[in-house]
Amino acid sequence: MPREIVTLQLGQCGNQMGAVYWQRLCAEHGISKEGILEEWATEGGDRKDVFFYQADDEHYIPRAILVDLEPRVINNILSSPWANLYNPENIFMSKDGGGAGNNWAHGYASGERLYEEVMEMVDREAEGSDSLEGFMLMHSIAGGTGSGFGSFILERLNDKFPKKLIQTYSVFPNAQEGDVVVQPYNSLLTLKRLTNHADSVVVLDNGALARISADRLHVQTPTFDQTNQLMSTVMAASTQTLRYPGYMNNDLVGIIASLIPTPRCHFLMTSYTPFTSDQIDKAKPIRRTTVLDVMRRLLQPKNRMVSTTPSKTACYISILNIIQGDVDPTDVHQSLLRIRERQLANFIPWGPASIQVALTRRSPYVTTNHRVSGLMLANHTSIASLFKRMLDQFDRLRKRNAFLDQYKKEKMFENGLEEFDDARATAEELLKEYKACESPDYITYVRR
Ligand code: GTP
Repeated sequence: MPREIVTLQLGQCGNQMGAVYWQRLCAEHGISKEGILEEWATEGGDRKDVFFYQADDEHYIPRAILVDLEPRVINNILSSPWANLYNPENIFMSKDGGGAGNNWAHGYASGERLYEEVMEMVDREAEGSDSLEGFMLMHSIAGGTGSGFGSFILERLNDKFPKKLIQTYSVFPNAQEGDVVVQPYNSLLTLKRLTNHADSVVVLDNGALARISADRLHVQTPTFDQTNQLMSTVMAASTQTLRYPGYMNNDLVGIIASLIPTPRCHFLMTSYTPFTSDQIDKAKPIRRTTVLDVMRRLLQPKNRMVSTTPSKTACYISILNIIQGDVDPTDVHQSLLRIRERQLANFIPWGPASIQVALTRRSPYVTTNHRVSGLMLANHTSIASLFKRMLDQFDRLRKRNAFLDQYKKEKMFENGLEEFDDARATAEELLKEYKACESPDYITYVRR
């Protein structure tokens, strides 16, 4: 039985990354732009039904819900050759069309107002699944819709489907050159919901994506198209074992269980190697890819899609490497031994210090010129340095009481700004917990 996953893409960023993700999934499963299985796509063995369902006329339709408070991005999708892929009943564009103006409070209030309409789509998708495993949410946390509307949806999904998993792919803003002046407010208010209402958050940081683009693609200021290609490669690889099942990590719950030993520390980093020209325009050629090369590169901080501050005490809580391609399991074993001998990965003192590896098949329909590629999903305590940076930026803005008028216009903030304090306190707690993870006494901390 498929363990279906329903995807919600919210706001500009969510819908743009979603569009590239679905293009990639279609390529990997031999599905055309119109949702028809290509004649040459006969090799099978894949599980299309986790992310697609078939309409009465055999069209494959993504289990995707597209939501935006302004019509531009979704209209772009609907005027592209991919327009017929999506179920038109699953598209919600706000009629007044102004977006959330980069205001979390406006996005959240719109969520309250438009809840019924969006939830009807979610319910229909959930009821159309045989054994729904959960939801994936794609959004950015810096603007108004993906962050505010996304926060509201996270609360409600969690409430309404307490037994279903919620995984988010959350785009964190570039800390060096944020393009939204109130991003520290929006980000921290969203971080509270990501902490309290998601089971797993894959953190994709626009700062790190820009750095990787400069290194891999020689592009100093990448376009969103380019960063979205990087992200969709990672998203597709992270769902590879669900779509090309082997005998392990075939469902989301298995992946999450192996990476997240305690519920609150559920923010994951990713690394991917090699990025090649079949995935990313202008990627530099890679000369050699053995399993050891791939695993070593995955551990290099410069390949992480999150910018963290180096620290002597930071360590891995867990690692899952998803290795694709032509791989001999003994190579994997040898590589793991070498990595351990050279102590390339520091682990927490209170749990097993091991890198888990899932070997998975590649799509037979996508040609590639390298033998092995890998995705690392890692739970690493240095993610806290990203939250610390967010907290400092928030404090700086908040101390000046800057830009609060727009927030105060919404009901939630009419009578005070406790919600800001509360979100701040949640972030502080999260920082403390990641710090505690680095100590052998962590288990006592959790039991407090
Ligand atoms: P409103 O515009 O206020 O309605 O909210 P929104 O959620 O639509 O805003 P948006 O998604 O544009 O969020 C702004 C943040 O997302 C900024 O940090 C942008 O840099 C980032 N962003 C926007 N679009 C993309 C994209 O396609 N890819 C990536 N990687 N980041 C994006």
